[in-house]
Formats: sequence, C-alpha cells, structure tokens
Amino acid sequence: MWGKRDDMIVHTFEPYNAEPPRGALARRDITTVDTFYSRNHAPVPSIQTAGWAPRVDGMVERLATFSLEDLRSRFPQYTEVATLQCDGNRRVGPIEVADIPGEAPWGPGATATARWTGVRLADVLREVGVDPDATDVAFVGADVSIDPDVGEQFGGSIPVRKASEREVLLAWSMNDEPLSAVHGAPVRVVVPGYIGARSVKWLERITVQDRPSENFFQQSTYRLYPPEVDPTEMGPGDGIALGLVAVNSEVLSPDDGAEVAVGPVEVTGYAFAGGDRTVVRVDVSVDEGVTWHQAELAEQISQWSWRHWRTTVDTVAGPNTVLARAWDSSAALQPESPAHVWNPKGYADNSWARIRVHARVP
Ligand code: MTE
Repeated sequence: MWGKRDDMIVHTFEPYNAEPPRGALARRDITTVDTFYSRNHAPVPSIQTAGWAPRVDGMVERLATFSLEDLRSRFPQYTEVATLQCDGNRRVGPIEVADIPGEAPWGPGATATARWTGVRLADVLREVGVDPDATDVAFVGADVSIDPDVGEQFGGSIPVRKASEREVLLAWSMNDEPLSAVHGAPVRVVVPGYIGARSVKWLERITVQDRPSENFFQQSTYRLYPPEVDPTEMGPGDGIALGLVAVNSEVLSPDDGAEVAVGPVEVTGYAFAGGDRTVVRVDVSVDEGVTWHQAELAEQISQWSWRHWRTTVDTVAGPNTVLARAWDSSAALQPESPAHVWNPKGYADNSWARIRVHARVP
C-alpha cells in the first residue's frame, strides 16, 4: 500500500498510518522511501500538479502564488538530510504505564531520515517581503480531516525565526525521487528539528501572521497536558504546544523479544535530538542501569539527522534487558521511564530505550 514494504505495522488503513518494524531502520543513515513511516490525519488528497499553486498571504508586502514550476525556476534548489520524528513515536511505552484511549500505539518506527530537495522557505518569504511585526508562519495542507470534531484542513505553524533559517524547505523530492502522494506531493514543508506535525504535506497555503496558527492541529492537538487532566475537557490553546524534539533513542537490533546466542551480542540503534542540538553520547547497560558503557557513534551525517550507534554487550543465559540512553549537545539526558514523561495524549516519550532478549546456550 502506498509503495510501502509488506511488513509495515499498519495502525490504520484509512487514514493510512504505518511504521516499519524496528529492524528495518537499523544501520541505514537514510531510510528508503518504502520503509519511511507515514502519519496521516485524513485520507491522502489527490492533487493535480498542473493546477496546483500554493498561496502566500498574511503579513507580507506582496501576496503571491507559486506553482511547482515557479518554485523550481525562480529559486535556488537545496538538499538537506533531515530526520522526521512524529510526536507519537514510542507511545507504546506510556500506554503500558496507563491507557491512552483513541491514540495509536506507535513503536519506535515513527522516526526516519531522508534527503529532501526543494527551495528554502526563507527565499520565498524574502520574495514576498515579511512584515517585521510578524511572529509566525502558518501552513495549511490540502487534506481535510474526516473526524467530525476537527472538520478542517491539516495545518500548523512555526516561528518566523525558524522559517527564516536555511534548513526549512518546501520540498518536492525525497531521496532524489519525486515526493510520493502519501508523503505530500506535489510539495511539502520540511522543518528539521521540529516535531513531524509541522512538516505540513500537500501544501496549499502559507500565511505570515502575528500569532501561532489557529488550526486544530496547532491549538488542540500535539499539545502536552499535565497528567492529571482529562484531555476531552481541554480547549484550544490549553497545555504546551509541542515544537522542538527532545533527545531520544531506541534499540533497532536485536528485536525486542529476540532469541540470541549467549555471550557477545551486537546491539544497534538510533539516537536523535531536535532543535539545533545533536547527539553526543549514547550509553548502554545490561544490568538495569547499575553500570553503563558508551556505544560507538556513527558519523553525524547532517546537523538535522539522527545518529546511529552500535556496541557489543555480554548476555547471560536466559532473559537479558538491554537499556540505552542518549545525551545531546545541551547535556540533556533521556529520562528513565515512560512513567516520568506520561501525559494524557502520550506525546514525546523519550524515556530510555529498553528491550528484552533471551540468550540461549548453543
Ligand atoms: N501534513 C498534512 N497535510 N496532513 C497530515 O496528516 N501529518 C503530520 C505531518 N504533515 C500530516 C502532515 C505528521 S503528524 C507527521 S509525523 C508527518 O507529516 C509525517 O510525515 P510522513 O507521512 O511523510 O512520514
């Protein structure tokens, strides 16, 4: 479905929400398109590139529309390697702590990295002239939520300051292929370092304004509520709007629950930090965190990408627990358990990675 591999873990078929098994992400800096997770709040819209031309409006000197051809011909083209991470990534952890009704139990596969090509949003904004009093840039996609409580197109916003940075792209290509329908063709926003929700697909409108987007997906979801509140009683603007991605990591191989041969076992995984932070260290433990040793970090392939890591651990016969935790360049460390980060919608679980393996004597 949608050009994805057969072993995708599909949370819902319509809208399509799917992630790869964790092992499929192992050891590859760039995730192939067939393996890249997809998160959709509405059916994938069918858009004819011919008539498509997103509008730029709001606090700008000149209203404008740009067709794909305009974007390609009028602005320089750039490629950025960037990781997208959905804020529901790893929600399965908080769900084990306490039920989170109505939210999909995403595993660690709602994170992936691609090579995105397009134009800089900053160049487009310069062309239309941004009012100096503007604070936010809002995006709207073409897809309309089928949820009666929502009933509007998907949207969200980022601060003007971020929108003016060189890494934020209006992208038409993913891994050197034209963007596929499920990933937002003809053009999507890519906001490196921010939660995936701000990388709006099927871009239809860009509005420069003096407040964050009023869209449902900015004001009423992707928000962090305190654990004690009932999310159904929350209104627009309540809680904290999620934006920058916190430092996170996962084990990718061996698989959780795998059988391994007793003795040395290679363990690999990813670690990622949002904003303009990067991962600087990953620790691994096989004794419930009493002792840790540092994993070997792969090269940082881009300021905006995850970092893969590997190490060898010594397993003992029987059940073993492998823990991993990452540190970022601001010296932030992942919290220990999903109980520490639990929130009523199960967002931003960045607790220590934890898998269990069973080591057999040959
Ligand atoms: N853009 C639109 N228009 N509609 C959506 O449902 N989902 C967002 C974001 N952009 C979404 C969207 C979320 S929550 C994430 S995590 C990423 O797209 C996922 O991008 P992908 O499906 O290309 O992996």
